[in-house]
Amino acid sequence: MIEEVSNYLNQIRHEFTKAALNEEAADNNPLEQYAKWFEEAVGGQVLDPKAMVISTVNAEGKPSSRVVYTRGVTDKGMLFYTNYLSRKGHDLADNPHISINIFWPEMERQIRFEGLVHRVSDIESDAYFAARPRESQIGAWASEQSQTITNRKELENRVKQFEEEFKGKDVPRPPHWGGYEVEINYAEFWQGRPARLHDRIIYELKNGKWELYRVAP
Ligand SMILES: Cc1cc2nc3c(=O)[nH]c(=O)nc-3n(C[C@H](O)[C@H](O)[C@H](O)COP(=O)(O)O)c2cc1C
Repeated sequence: MIEEVSNYLNQIRHEFTKAALNEEAADNNPLEQYAKWFEEAVGGQVLDPKAMVISTVNAEGKPSSRVVYTRGVTDKGMLFYTNYLSRKGHDLADNPHISINIFWPEMERQIRFEGLVHRVSDIESDAYFAARPRESQIGAWASEQSQTITNRKELENRVKQFEEEFKGKDVPRPPHWGGYEVEINYAEFWQGRPARLHDRIIYELKNGKWELYRVAP
């Protein structure tokens, strides 16, 4: 099975033909450029354009990646919400550097961001938490994200326990759950092009100003 898959992987090729990106067309601000591409991704039927891969590096220098949902764009960067005591939460407490990768195959586009995270204010996290469906709110209490559990039943029992605890009341935000803002200082917009001659436009924040340049594919 592995060999067949390996052979298959070796043989398939994809030609990128849909669009181009050049220095003149790119916005001066990478977050505006993201917003523009996001709109196009929605229009282009990208399955889940909110999804982004975030990579963290722990105190030992070990990287790890996972998908989270983008829950906002600010003038500085991107927002996501999670459990502060999760593996990523521990990584970010030790090392606030983060990288983001967004791949929209339907658009033949990849976006990369790099930056530093900080927690959003409690008020902001409260407001976002309050707007979530009740079962997600209960889930945030029930799931000790990234901790080993004996079986699924244990998780389901914890859900029941918190449903009981908060019966007839609003579910408060757990203190260990909230948002991060990724303040970006580097961005890349990649547009696939024929013959692997892809467009790569880089933005780098230097003395508070975005510098834009192209790199080879
Ligand atoms: C499409 C998708 C969206 C996800 N969105 C989130 C999210 O917004 N926040 C979150 O904490 N985990 C989200 N997850 C789960 C994470 O990928 C991951 O399993 C979890 O955060 C634990 O990661 P960690 O153990 O590295 O901290 C999502 C997963 C997928 C596949």
